[in-house]
Amino acid sequence: MRTTFLGHELQSPVIVGSSPASFGADAMIRCHEAGAGAVVCKTINRRAAENPDLHMVLAGKETLINCEKWTDFPMERWLSAEMPQAVAAGVTCIASVGHSVEDSRLCVERLEDIGVVAIELVSYADDTVLPMLEDTKRRVDIPVIVKLSPNSADLMGHARRCVDAGADALTACDSIGPAMRIDIETGKPLMGGADGCGWLTGAAIFPFTVARIAALRQVLPDVPIIGLGGITSWQDGIEFVMAGADMMGVASAAIIHGPVFIARMNARVDAWCAEHGVRELEEMRGRVLEHLPVEQDRGYEMGFDYAACRHCNQCVTACAYRARSFDEVGYAVVDKALCRRCGLCVSVCGFGALAVERGAVR
Ligand SMILES: Cc1cc2nc3c(=O)[nH]c(=O)nc-3n(C[C@H](O)[C@H](O)[C@H](O)COP(=O)(O)O)c2cc1C
Ligand code: SF4
Ligand code: SF4
Repeated sequence: MRTTFLGHELQSPVIVGSSPASFGADAMIRCHEAGAGAVVCKTINRRAAENPDLHMVLAGKETLINCEKWTDFPMERWLSAEMPQAVAAGVTCIASVGHSVEDSRLCVERLEDIGVVAIELVSYADDTVLPMLEDTKRRVDIPVIVKLSPNSADLMGHARRCVDAGADALTACDSIGPAMRIDIETGKPLMGGADGCGWLTGAAIFPFTVARIAALRQVLPDVPIIGLGGITSWQDGIEFVMAGADMMGVASAAIIHGPVFIARMNARVDAWCAEHGVRELEEMRGRVLEHLPVEQDRGYEMGFDYAACRHCNQCVTACAYRARSFDEVGYAVVDKALCRRCGLCVSVCGFGALAVERGAVR
């Protein structure tokens, strides 16, 4: 599905976040060819990063911890080779620049001249973002995006201050941390940095990001938002949009599965939208806000679909209150005196045999 973002018509709403998936021109071109609407390059800094050995590890299902710094290419290489090559290949390039005004002032004008469509500013500390933003806005005419840190003590306040200072869009959000995993055979941290820690990305942070996007959309209804943080399926992308995002950002999934993830995601998002009569993302953007605050008396009823049930017993096991059982002919029974209406049994059924909403009861 084509979409428009910051005045540019893009081949899809999937945007690749700054990461190894966009570490140089070749990687950016691969993402573009797989259908990415735009690609944010690995963060450019005046110094090339040196990373410790062992700086990326799979830390759970579709979840990574990394202590990788910014790009390990010198700034000049981005300006004279990587970015011009990506732009010439037709990639819609967004230049990630960090982490202080001493870095951004050295490159943003040249990046604009090369043809990037926007600058994304990122920093490890909120107070370095505003000077970078103000300086960059003076130097370039292209949109300037601020990447928010979920580790900020005042994420919403910081977001507002960035918008007031001229940010044209926000990326929500960066990685969460610090995070640590330990090899239990050696007792050593899995991350190779001195503190043994890294930053959490991928599936584990998805619900956190959804909440942040929805909160931002509530207070900043008109600011373009790149949702980023935890997408590992096409459904996640739709959820981001329903939370209020304009773009579906992907980093870890594009690293773990490669750029083919982008192609698959786009195909499934398009199919779902066609099935649901959605012609433009705008039609479902922020849909969750229509349901907030959540109505408190929804009259839930438990529904059961005998034909769908595989009698795996998962719903019975997961009910801590022992409210679920099956009768002698295999029909689900809920003891209403014990049931707390927590909803867990419904969500653990992998076969869609249980329902809670009135009207969905079968
Ligand atoms: C290995 C790795 C390196 C990253 N490097 C950068 C970076 O240089 N600059 C940046 O702004 N974000 C960086 N990120 C963060 C991603 O852009 C993104 O915000 C984060 O991974 C959450 O998205 P995801 O859950 O889809 O991975 C990196 C992420 C990973 C996994
Ligand atoms: S979890 Fe679903 S499929 Fe399994 S027994 Fe319960 S209702 Fe049936
Ligand atoms: S809603 Fe909660 S308490 Fe009720 S049967 Fe399901 S798991 Fe048990």
